[in-house]
Amino acid sequence: MSEPAKGRKFSGRAFVSLTLTLICLLLILSAGVLYAAPRGRVANWGYWSFLGLTRHQWVALHINVGTSFIILGVVHVIYNFVRFLGYLKRKLLAIPALSPEILLALVLSAGVVLGTGQNWPPFSTLAAWNEALKDRWEGRLPAGPIPHAEALPLTELAGQLGISSDQLLAALAEEGFPDATREQTLATVAKNHGTVPGEIFRKLQQHLPSSSLPPRGGRGPGWGRQGGGQGPGMGFGRGGGRGRFHQEQSEPQTHTPEN
Ligand code: HEM
Repeated sequence: MSEPAKGRKFSGRAFVSLTLTLICLLLILSAGVLYAAPRGRVANWGYWSFLGLTRHQWVALHINVGTSFIILGVVHVIYNFVRFLGYLKRKLLAIPALSPEILLALVLSAGVVLGTGQNWPPFSTLAAWNEALKDRWEGRLPAGPIPHAEALPLTELAGQLGISSDQLLAALAEEGFPDATREQTLATVAKNHGTVPGEIFRKLQQHLPSSSLPPRGGRGPGWGRQGGGQGPGMGFGRGGGRGRFHQEQSEPQTHTPEN
């Protein structure tokens, strides 16, 4: 590797270009992971992670690199404005207004918008693959009894389960979570105890009457676990779990697409 030249000035332009390239790679990586990741109501139950990051963390990474990409892109254009202007003058402005290049660019862009809106193949294909990938996770990983059960305050969760919040708190205390409060969510309790919502719920299940099973409205996998692993895994796929499996879970499920 060559030594940095003595007295060489730091190049802001080179720095921005290099960072933009790295950020772009991270943007593509995080977009790919989110594309293939399970929906939030499955992932946030706690049995999915990839490269050590949970879905929440991948979303945060994607938003942060996405925002950095836009900001750095603007700075990149500013740094190269004179060249950019030259390019515009030389190349683009030299093209007549109704040239085939401009017409084709317009037709293609409008076609993407129209085709997507009308759900025409091949524009519908990427979205369909996205749904199919997410559907695959539904039967493979355990999810809460109701969508986003981990995000409900415990009082509300108890109501949904048909028990009183006192019963729920007592069950939690018995299972080693005595500090849980009505306002907290399963996600908070799990975070405070270094576990995941699904694990707490698995422990709670033995305290819950089967009559408190929520009505099956076809909103995705319900109670119990279908062989999920212990704690967040390191990637796609099943864990080798010690879970219970409720018969209801094997029923065909429909779901509402959601995150
Ligand atoms: C190379 C360009 C990009 C690609 C291919 C891409 C792709 C994706 C994908 C696949 C998802 C997940 C959709 C799903 O839930 O299935 C997503 C979500 C999202 N992206 Fe991008 N993205 C790109 C750039 C950006 C940029 C520049 C931003 C701006 C900051 C951005 C902001 C977001 C947001 C806010 C979400 C929603 C996250 C959530 O709450 O689930 N993306 N994107």
